[in-house]
Amino acid sequence: MSAQTPPESVTKTQQRRITPPDVRARKGAEPLVCLTAYDAPTARLLDPHCDVLLVGDSVGMVVHGLPNTIPVTLEMMVLHGQAVMRGSARSLVVVDMPFGSYETSREQAFDNAARILRETGAQAVKLESGVYIAETIRFLAERGVPVMAHVGLRPQAALAEGGFKAKGRDEAERARVLAEARAADEAGAFAIVVEGVAEELAGEITQAVKAPTIGIGASASCDGQILVTPDMLGLFDWTPRFVKRYADLKGLTEEAVKAYAEEVRARRFPGPDEVYRIKSR
Ligand code: KIV
Repeated sequence: MSAQTPPESVTKTQQRRITPPDVRARKGAEPLVCLTAYDAPTARLLDPHCDVLLVGDSVGMVVHGLPNTIPVTLEMMVLHGQAVMRGSARSLVVVDMPFGSYETSREQAFDNAARILRETGAQAVKLESGVYIAETIRFLAERGVPVMAHVGLRPQAALAEGGFKAKGRDEAERARVLAEARAADEAGAFAIVVEGVAEELAGEITQAVKAPTIGIGASASCDGQILVTPDMLGLFDWTPRFVKRYADLKGLTEEAVKAYAEEVRARRFPGPDEVYRIKSR
């Protein structure tokens, strides 16, 4: 067991969490700082610096090694959502609704959203939002479920679209993504993630909607930004071009593990400081 701060120490701090209305009120104001989180120790590190921690279904790819987000289950989202709630005290925690958990009917969406909120203690859900999902957003919002929408490049459409493709680079797509954002806004989404769209379109959406926009591969003119945390920490060899690496966690981890392996093989670890001794009588 490593020397982790127990989760209770976080909850005891009793800071006021940022709420969905607080996020909504940031439209056109100080940019919202958002990152993904999937576990308690990472959430603890991110929490003091972020406004929103998203338990993204990207967890399937970056933690579970899946090829896309399609196989991610509600159970996975609940488990990771619980961990992030335990590790955070200040940020708004938003949990993604996985593929297949909200598309069948508005009632199915409400039951699964309610389960996520009840079992994790998170304050909001996010769902990928074509125009047809707007009525589901309205149904949830009217029943007390704060919804963050996600438009533009929608990773859950990866099978249908043959991969992850940037959006809005021609007129038909521009109009479609703008319509998705407007529909989510009018239906009551408290914030809208805009992913993988042409910079001009991200600006246009931000002007057109009342909810704050949170860009990823979009534009600095959005009302906030989000990145997948392991991407921005440099854990992977490949990242999309919109990711900026703020650290080289892969290099640091490789160096640390190499040093550990050498010391174990040479019997230099554990050293005198890392072993217990019999108490002198
Ligand atoms: O699942 C996720 O991490 C996301 C972000 C890319 C916004 O939806």
